[in-house]
Amino acid sequence: NRLDAPRAPRGPLWWERRRDQVLARAAAGTPRYLYHLPTVRERARELAGVAAVDRRFYAIKANPHPAILRALVEEGFGLECVSAGELERVFTAVPEIDPDRVLFTPSFAPRADYALALARGVHVTVDNAVVLRQWPALFRGRELMLRLDPGFGSGHHEKVRTGGKEAKFGLALDGLPDFLDAARALGVRIVGLHAHIGSGIHDPAHWREVYGRLVAIAESIGTVAWIDVGGGLGVAYDPEADPFDLRAYAAMLAEVKAACPQYALWIEPGRYLVAEAGALLLTVTQVVEKAGVRRVGADAGMNALMRPAMYGAFHEIVNLTRLGDAPGTPADVVGPICESGDVLGRRRPLPDATAEGDVLLVGHAGAYGAAMANTYNLRALPQEDVLDV
Ligand code: LLP
Repeated sequence: NRLDAPRAPRGPLWWERRRDQVLARAAAGTPRYLYHLPTVRERARELAGVAAVDRRFYAIKANPHPAILRALVEEGFGLECVSAGELERVFTAVPEIDPDRVLFTPSFAPRADYALALARGVHVTVDNAVVLRQWPALFRGRELMLRLDPGFGSGHHEKVRTGGKEAKFGLALDGLPDFLDAARALGVRIVGLHAHIGSGIHDPAHWREVYGRLVAIAESIGTVAWIDVGGGLGVAYDPEADPFDLRAYAAMLAEVKAACPQYALWIEPGRYLVAEAGALLLTVTQVVEKAGVRRVGADAGMNALMRPAMYGAFHEIVNLTRLGDAPGTPADVVGPICESGDVLGRRRPLPDATAEGDVLLVGHAGAYGAAMANTYNLRALPQEDVLDV
């Protein structure tokens, strides 16, 4: 809102406060992700302060680094997984974890993944009647969670909206009677309802809407003890943008919880806990000008961080070697991949002296960064490293 007074400028982030340590890590080789564990813990404690929430799970798909999983379990979080690989990661990184603190919330997963999750004794979510009818021996007599599609999606990009007709996730509401028939036939009890219909959401009214729909269905089922409203909490990637309004989120959840205190309220955020805690460190390879456009080349691009190419996502990029130098001629920051979409940022005011060997830092890269990196063009995956001071 333009009429509002401008926000106080953002305070220095961890990588500004610890620039020398970050540069020392970059000297050990780039591309490299660096994760600041105190920032992860800080975000975890903020969410632990959201009083209406009974149980919190971290969606490990955002960043399954073992040190992050351990830090969040220590902070009281459970872990949400979507594949056999993620389940294995959880039980390798945190062998002592109680399976009651683990959720399995897959989409179109193979039978073997469900079998593994059930054998581990974690909470398992299904989102269609087909799996029950196809694999009756697996599910007979179980207590399960049901993922619903309330009929709409939200989020920062079309590709992350996981509700509505065009999304593959969740049971459509008109499929509920048939699902409950299949469940009854197997003696399956639905103990929890689940919905996650998008990512990067800033308006807390979203969760009221989701919760409202789920409560109505819980009433009709009768055996539901908890309601999981998913993750999706937004993050301010742009230093100029307003941060996620955690107070408004907490107030909204308090309101919905007070209306239906008989259901435990669960959440499963990913991005919010880890985005700001991660930076991608790159090294400048060459600076080239063509047809009036200046380009700063880096030793990794869309192979290390897909978000700009895939969603047009904004990530702050600074020249850490020359932090504090005057902004220069705007430049596009590009990687070495043979695709014109290999652009990490357009028209960025990097210092004019930017040159081969400088360290670039891509900010807020802790969520869906390394997790989505790939070896396209046979480039090596980025290294990963943690900072715990
Ligand atoms: N629960 C379920 C079932 C999910 O599918 C997801 C994310 C989450 C929780 C956590 O959502 P979060 O709090 O992180 O928004 N690669 C995209 C984001 C994809 C999100 C997929 N599901 C991106 O980089 O924006």
